[in-house]
Amino acid sequence: MTAWGFKLTGVGSALPEKVLSNQDLTAWMDTTDEWIRERTGISERRIGGSTSGLATQAAQRALDAAGVSPSSIDTVILATTSPDHICPGTAPAVARELGLECGAFDLQAACSGWVYGLVVANGLMLQGMNRVLVIGAESLDRITDYHDRGTGILFGNGAGAAVVERDDSGAGQLLGWDLGANGNWVHILYADHGDTLKMDGKEVYRQAVIAIQRTVQATLDRAGLTVADVDIVIPHQANVRIVEAAWKKVGFTMDQTVMILERTGNTSAASIPLALDDALRHGRIEPGNLVLFVGFGAGMTWASALVRWA
Ligand code: UT7
Repeated sequence: MTAWGFKLTGVGSALPEKVLSNQDLTAWMDTTDEWIRERTGISERRIGGSTSGLATQAAQRALDAAGVSPSSIDTVILATTSPDHICPGTAPAVARELGLECGAFDLQAACSGWVYGLVVANGLMLQGMNRVLVIGAESLDRITDYHDRGTGILFGNGAGAAVVERDDSGAGQLLGWDLGANGNWVHILYADHGDTLKMDGKEVYRQAVIAIQRTVQATLDRAGLTVADVDIVIPHQANVRIVEAAWKKVGFTMDQTVMILERTGNTSAASIPLALDDALRHGRIEPGNLVLFVGFGAGMTWASALVRWA
């Protein structure tokens, strides 16, 4: 087993104020609150704000929680599917707002993006960096058609961020990870330039359950550990039924799983750090716990990372 000294020293999140509830959607969409809750687990999502604005808020909270100065950050990785502009990336604007003077780039791996970012951050630390800010931020309302009942019921805005630091003490570790992609599935979830998200929901559902099982196993294998070793699981918040279906095969329980999508909907790259922040605020993670992050989404992409919490 190869483990890498790695700890998340500060986590923060941000949601826009404006709530779009299931009930609101029924005013113009042929759907019901009951249908959406039963089929997805979602009651409401947030809309408004910008990707850079939400990212800046979440990242500032993460920096405050870590108690580190902006000048000590070596790189900003911003995972997003809904950047402020096609060009340039959104990360440089966020770095400017935070007063950082370091490298800053966007990472596009859809809903798996923040977990990809964690693994990239680990690689940068192996190159000698000490602190990397890993943000997931989305303003999906810009690419969601809230009149389309196949997609409009799912997506919302938000951001989450973590300060990731090298930990030479060995208390915090990245015990295992896995990154994957299969470009044969581009057509099941995509947005063309200037257009909204198009999705074959059933196929995404099916492929997501397969991808989750596969990536969890790969990460556990790399760590030399089993399902029974994991304390807390933080999956991408897309649909509670996807997670339940995957866990039936994998063996995790919903009690050890952090779910917040009832209040946020699917916030793509932001969903895992948003859920992580919620879990920390509710005291669900203790030092020494093994925390597994699992992402999956458009691409298809998938990613998981197993962290010993310090
Ligand atoms: O980050 C990854 C992002 N994407 C996802 O995670 C999406 C994964 N897929 C899903 O979450 C689900 O496929 C959906 C929630 C999108 C749809 O749920 P489903 O259980 O796959 O529903 P369905 O498309 O099979 O539709 C079942 C029925 C159909 O009616 P009939 O043909 O049985 O009469 C649909 O027309 O439900 C109807 N329906 C709706 N009814 C009320 C579809 N959407 C809605 C709706 N409200 N919003």
